[in-house]
Amino acid sequence: MGRASPLLLFFLVLGSSFAAYNIVTMIFHYGSSENLAVADDVDGHLLFDPVITMPARVKNRKISKSPFHVALTATDAPYNKWQCRIMYYWYKKKKSMPGSEMGGFTRILHSGNPDNLMDEIPTVVVDPLPPGLDRGYIVLNRPWAFVQWLNKTTIAEEYVLMAEPDHIFVNPLPNLAYGGVPAAFPFFYIRPNENEKIVRKFYPEQYGPVTNVDPIGNSPVIIRKDMLAKIAPTWMNVSLKMKEDPETDKAFGWVLEMYAYAIASALHGVQHILRKDFMLQPPWDLETHKKYIIHYTYGCDYNMKGELTYGEFGEWRFDKRSHLDGPPPRNLTLPPPGVPESVVTLVKMVNEATANIPNWDTSEPLTEKANGYR
Ligand SMILES: *[C@@H]1O[C@H](CO)[C@@H](O)[C@H](O)[C@H]1NC(C)=O
Ligand SMILES: *[C@@H]1O[C@H](CO)[C@@H](O)[C@H](O)[C@H]1NC(C)=O
Ligand SMILES: *[C@@H]1O[C@H](CO)[C@@H](O)[C@H](O)[C@H]1NC(C)=O
Repeated sequence: MGRASPLLLFFLVLGSSFAAYNIVTMIFHYGSSENLAVADDVDGHLLFDPVITMPARVKNRKISKSPFHVALTATDAPYNKWQCRIMYYWYKKKKSMPGSEMGGFTRILHSGNPDNLMDEIPTVVVDPLPPGLDRGYIVLNRPWAFVQWLNKTTIAEEYVLMAEPDHIFVNPLPNLAYGGVPAAFPFFYIRPNENEKIVRKFYPEQYGPVTNVDPIGNSPVIIRKDMLAKIAPTWMNVSLKMKEDPETDKAFGWVLEMYAYAIASALHGVQHILRKDFMLQPPWDLETHKKYIIHYTYGCDYNMKGELTYGEFGEWRFDKRSHLDGPPPRNLTLPPPGVPESVVTLVKMVNEATANIPNWDTSEPLTEKANGYR
């Protein structure tokens, strides 16, 4: 073996490059047949031609991919604060692990004033929407927060992950986007083609079929920041117009701003790679293996036999909404035997963070009800 001919080596290298090229091509063919992986850029130009640009992509992939900036939108409500502290704790731990392509971190605080976490978490303060505009639906502030943040700060990374306080990085997150094609998590309850009549109010026919609107929200999404800068103002406009329209407001309710992002990106000709492994949602998803973000938005209720009692208070339970006014205590009781790994891991990760974050239990006066959060 020590005397392998240069010609043999040449063919070996050539062979493995072709193999890599073919695998990636297959992935993209699969993707485009699902109408997922081909996107125009925000000005309507085709961003990549899979055949022409793929070799360069393969090469870049081998070197490394661009890191992404983690952008966490939040308010200064106690309910948001404790979640942000846990989120940032796990970001710091997973960022340096192999496989991570996480770059810097910013909490975009859209309640307008600095709070007591400024020294703990890198934060940029932006303004809330002018009074009345959000009509009590606080998450409408998210698009406006991104517009302001992108305008007023210089971000080192080329990509941005839009994240939320109830996200926990369970495995090191790579950059799931490909060039100009962003990556998103598909939500089963975002169904543009079942709501065609309403979607068409904001996504006129000349833009194409309703299936161009992805079944996603703005988070989690990894996207090139120049594309986000173009989408965000449209996202803000669309969400405000939706909120003003009683029929749309009623139909979309608490997921209105998710539809608004999906429609705004479609208006710019942007579609997303849909990654089910981007996120898992206990108690429905049972395992954290090979998934990246735990989203703990659903309550986890179990009886002592380890059976899910969803919708009814369990003898054992973990629900973020039990802690609207302040942080959960340290050292939560672990679930009984039989409860899925995802739920056990979630509670262990919350416990590890709260055990290590200084002054965790500092009680705070109740300043704002968590009304309107989710
Ligand atoms: C950024 O904000 C400044 C002032 O607040 C404004 O004049 C400018 O038009 C904004 N730029 C963009 C790209 O939104
Ligand atoms: C948002 O809406 C306003 C008022 O309707 C309009 O002037 C502005 O051009 C819109 N901006 C975008 C980015 O759609
Ligand atoms: C956490 O609680 C358990 C009982 O649920 C107890 O045995 C354990 O010592 C506690 N750990 C810490 C660090 O307080």
